[in-house]
Parts: sequence; C-alpha cells; structure tokens
Amino acid sequence: MHILSTKDLPDSYLDRLYGRTLDIEKYSYRYTDALKGKVLANLFFEESTRTRISFETAMYRLGGQVLSPNIKDSSLVKGESIENMIKTISQYADVIVIRHPVEGMVSKLAKHSDVPVINAGDGANEHPTQALLDLHTMLKFNQKELFERTNLMFTGDLLYSRTIRSLLYLIKRYTDIRVCFANDIEEKNIPFSEYFIADEKSIPEFLSATDILYMTRNQKERHIEGKNDTKFILTSELADTMPDHAIIMHPLPCNDELPEEINNNPRAKYFEQVKNGLWTRMAILWLMLRDYDNK
Ligand code: CP
Repeated sequence: MHILSTKDLPDSYLDRLYGRTLDIEKYSYRYTDALKGKVLANLFFEESTRTRISFETAMYRLGGQVLSPNIKDSSLVKGESIENMIKTISQYADVIVIRHPVEGMVSKLAKHSDVPVINAGDGANEHPTQALLDLHTMLKFNQKELFERTNLMFTGDLLYSRTIRSLLYLIKRYTDIRVCFANDIEEKNIPFSEYFIADEKSIPEFLSATDILYMTRNQKERHIEGKNDTKFILTSELADTMPDHAIIMHPLPCNDELPEEINNNPRAKYFEQVKNGLWTRMAILWLMLRDYDNK
C-alpha cells in the first residue's frame, strides 16, 4: 500500500498506527532488528530537514538501511526519465520516500514503482506523514477524550500549506472539533460544512478559547512576489492569553510568525512533534514492511 494522501487512509489504519506508535515509543528496544535486511530509498527533489532525516533515522532504528542518492549525480542529468529512475530504484529498495515540488507528481511516480511509495510532500498538495504525526501529537496532548468539544485554530499560509490540507482530511473524522481559520482560505480546500474565519481583530478573542493552535509559515517558495504573505505573529503576550492546557503546534521550519521566545512557553509542542515524527515514521515503516498479518 502506498501512502500518498490522508484521504484514502482507512480509520482502522489510523487506529493501528496510533497504537503501534505508542508501543514503539515505549518499547523502542524491542524493534532494533524489526526491519533488518530492508532498504529504504529517500528521493528528495526539494529541500528538507525533518522529513528526510527522520525517515533515515526511523529506518536505522528499525535495523534497516537507507539509500540517499544525490539527484544531481543521477542519470537524470543524462536525460533519463524520472519514471524510469523510479522503476529502477524500486528494483533495489523495499520502500521509496519521495518529495517533489510539483503537485500530484508523487502519485504519478508511484504508478511506476514496484514497491510502496510514501509521499513526503508534493508541492502545495499533501504531506500525509506530517499530518499523521500531527494527529498523534494532538491525541497525545489534548486532554479531552477524542477531541470532545475541542477548538482548533489554524494560522498562517492556509492556501499553500500541504500539511494543513492533509491534516484537515484526518481531523474531519472527529465530529466534535470546531475549526477556526485565522485568514482566508479557498472554500474548496475545506472539507467541513461549518467553520469560523477570524480576522486580525478577532484573533485574540478566538485564541483565549483555543485548545490547539496550529501555525504555519508563509510558503514563500510557492508565492508570487509575496502576494499571499500572511502577517500573524504569535507574541508571548498573545500566547499567554491561551488557556493553560492549550498546545501550540507548527510543522516547522518556522519564520517570523513564531519567535524563538515561544519555545520556552509550556504550551509549545512543536519539538515534541519532531520527536513524535520519528516514532510515527517508525510505525509507518513497520506497518508497511513488517505487519504481515494485516496485508
Ligand atoms: N515539516 C517538514 O516537512 O519539514 P522539512 O521540510 O524540514 O522536512
């Protein structure tokens, strides 16, 4: 099974993933040889720190090995098609992780692979494994049973954020979440019938009732001359208007919207997200390459 979008993931998979992720976090020493002999290929056609390195670390911690070919040294420069490159790598690896700047490209390439493909981000479209680790973090830190009456606020670049798009497909399964967007988002991007839009003035009011704040940076690399830049900055004063139990999340990397002083705020959970990304990706690989009973 490929992982290309959070839209197609069955609820039963999410349940198994959550359970397995918790187990791996608690008993990681039991998994050190779980994927011995398996090989992961990391193909990144766009920059990354967390996704690329956490997939590498996840595979090493499960006893597997990693191929990280330098795209610039590949036969693409001799004119080989990217489709044939994927077909070739799928003869060597057991799973291929691909990031590409073009929307839909990873799904297109997956059709040429003989092994499962994981979408590590395709343009502004989707970033399913980030959304899975985000959901895991929310479930872990939100003290309410299955998001009972939870207020979730999104700020930042809602139009171009692939992490938010993938996350919305997951959280729409939890009917008791009330969602607020802190700036305009094209309606076609929202899989909900009911949601709030906050403007600059009403953000503080919404923040004081927010259980989970999910921020994103301006995806400048996808903007036309800063045209779509959003301005919201979370100051310490604003963060302190949030309830004590609230959590602040961000997929990172962040820019001005999230000053470093917020790192020390007890509500800040974005480095926990980074850590959860390792456990979640270990669980994703384990379910994909080892969970024979559920294939
Ligand atoms: N969150 C995320 O995708 O980070 P990277 O771009 O560093 O992989």
